[in-house]
Amino acid sequence: MADGFAQSVKQQADIVRIVGEYVRLTKGGAQSFKGLCPFHKEKTPSFNVQAVQQFYHCFGCGQSGDVFTFVQKMENISFPEAVRTVAQKCGIPLPKREFSSPEEAQASRLRSKLLEIHEQACLYFEEQLQGPEAARAREYLTGRGLTAEAITAFRIGYAPDSYSTMRDRFQSGFEEEVLRGSGLFSAKEQAEGGSGTMYARFRKRITFPIRNEAGRVIAFTARALDNDEKAGPKYLNSPETPLYTKGHVLFNLDKAKQAIRQFEFALLVEGQMDCISVYMAGITNVLATSGTAFTEAQVRLLARHTRQVVVNFDPDTAGANAAEKSIALLIEEGFSVKVVTLEGGLDPDRYVRERGTPAYIAALRGARRHSDYLIERARTLFPPVTPDAKVKALNFLLPHMQHIPSRIARDEFAADAAQKLSIDSALLRQELKQAAFARRADVRPKSSSALGWSEAEKLLLRALMLPAGQPARELARQRMTEEPSLYEGLAASALLSAFLEAETISNPFDLAPDESSRHLLAAVLMNGGQEIQTQQVEDAFHSLRHSRLERRQRELRRSLAEAELRNDSATVQELMTEKMALDRVLRDG
Ligand code: UTP
Ligand code: MN
Repeated sequence: MADGFAQSVKQQADIVRIVGEYVRLTKGGAQSFKGLCPFHKEKTPSFNVQAVQQFYHCFGCGQSGDVFTFVQKMENISFPEAVRTVAQKCGIPLPKREFSSPEEAQASRLRSKLLEIHEQACLYFEEQLQGPEAARAREYLTGRGLTAEAITAFRIGYAPDSYSTMRDRFQSGFEEEVLRGSGLFSAKEQAEGGSGTMYARFRKRITFPIRNEAGRVIAFTARALDNDEKAGPKYLNSPETPLYTKGHVLFNLDKAKQAIRQFEFALLVEGQMDCISVYMAGITNVLATSGTAFTEAQVRLLARHTRQVVVNFDPDTAGANAAEKSIALLIEEGFSVKVVTLEGGLDPDRYVRERGTPAYIAALRGARRHSDYLIERARTLFPPVTPDAKVKALNFLLPHMQHIPSRIARDEFAADAAQKLSIDSALLRQELKQAAFARRADVRPKSSSALGWSEAEKLLLRALMLPAGQPARELARQRMTEEPSLYEGLAASALLSAFLEAETISNPFDLAPDESSRHLLAAVLMNGGQEIQTQQVEDAFHSLRHSRLERRQRELRRSLAEAELRNDSATVQELMTEKMALDRVLRDG
């Protein structure tokens, strides 16, 4: 991709707006915004976005860069793809695509073909649902309370009871590689006695598209119409493909994310049907995990939109287990979690339909703190009437307590548990303390100022980052070239010489050799004003000369002491002469 295009996109894009699509940002300073870092776990925001200088930096994990770096990391895409993505977000027309390698071009081509076939398949299933063959499917959906509006909104469809119809329809429009790669077809290989031909994976099923965060269809989950053995599993999902990784997707995130930010929490349910019913009832901040416990990838995905979750899983054992695992993971990641248990053993789908929206909202309002829920669960699993059962209940709760990042909340949980299980609370605290050894150490790097750049070094770095032709920049470059010894040996010397060598600096963070210098660089960029006078540059060099002399003075003192110890009078004489001259210079000026 032409470099000029990237430059022009960067000039037009506003990093605050682009980052804001992924991270909740609040105003931090006159020209800066802050939020929870999307690149590492944290509870207090150390992620900064600078509106004037158009870059981001996290003081927690040290990640930094410009709008392209950000989108690249968030979307896990290459630089050229990031430039295109940002351009699209800003409505800038794209030039023809170029790739850095044939493999990259190939992979990207396949991905877009896969997106296309998924869109086509979704339309195909939607169309099939209206056909004569789907009468039973329509009846089924009506019976489950799904309105035409819901069917349209969620693009629900029907996969006909045929191995070949769909294949015949798609074979002409898509290459074999795309048909195979899509996961929409299965093939019995010739080696296994099959013919090698492909057949439809989803048959006689209600289809639900799985969409990514941007709303593109990337996979399907399909419910059997019949309940008998022959029908196979109740829900059949797409296999993993280049578009779809299980555990990386949250069902309905594309539709729910705006409401999640508005309401400042997400409602988490297990099944797609639960999700659809609840959404259609007007509770639009709802997501489905699709029947499994939360994965770390899903937590990260969610954390970009909120840190508060209400969990409403099925009341059966599988649901309770999934809820426990999900709660543990969410708590560990610093989420605040509440849990709803619906009376009557109903799942959200049935509850909304049978009791109505107001009743469901009341149930959500009655959500309990996750600790209360877990204590209740421990009491149910191990009624604490015997000492043995109390130990078991305690062992059930301890890992959950340990995962709570805040000590206050941990202690509160322990006190509650002790009371409700009638266990001596001192004993429980002791257990907790011992278990705390196992707690993961907080490996978050502290923002380092150990390197300690002087004010002069910081000013020179800023001067070198100015656009070419600015007097302060040109003066700094000239002085540094004339007198390299001035910045050699300084804390920032590697960075200074990298800046000097670079003709233009598009992303200064790329030139920083290590994490601590990236931290320092970010601090420099954030605190420094915009304008630099040439006099400030001269003053900086003056101060560098002065500190170089001071360094030499310290060296001389040390060498003198050593020479004296050795009784090396010739050297002592020589060093004394230098030191006296140096002292004079430092005193005078
Ligand atoms: P449930 O069995 O609770 O399904 O599984 P449900 O949503 O209540 O289904 P309906 O109401 O009978 O249609 C919860 C979730 O687990 C996943 C699905 O995502 C389902 O929504 N699941 C379940 C599967 O992936 N495969 C299965 O065979 C069953
Ligand atoms: Mn269910």
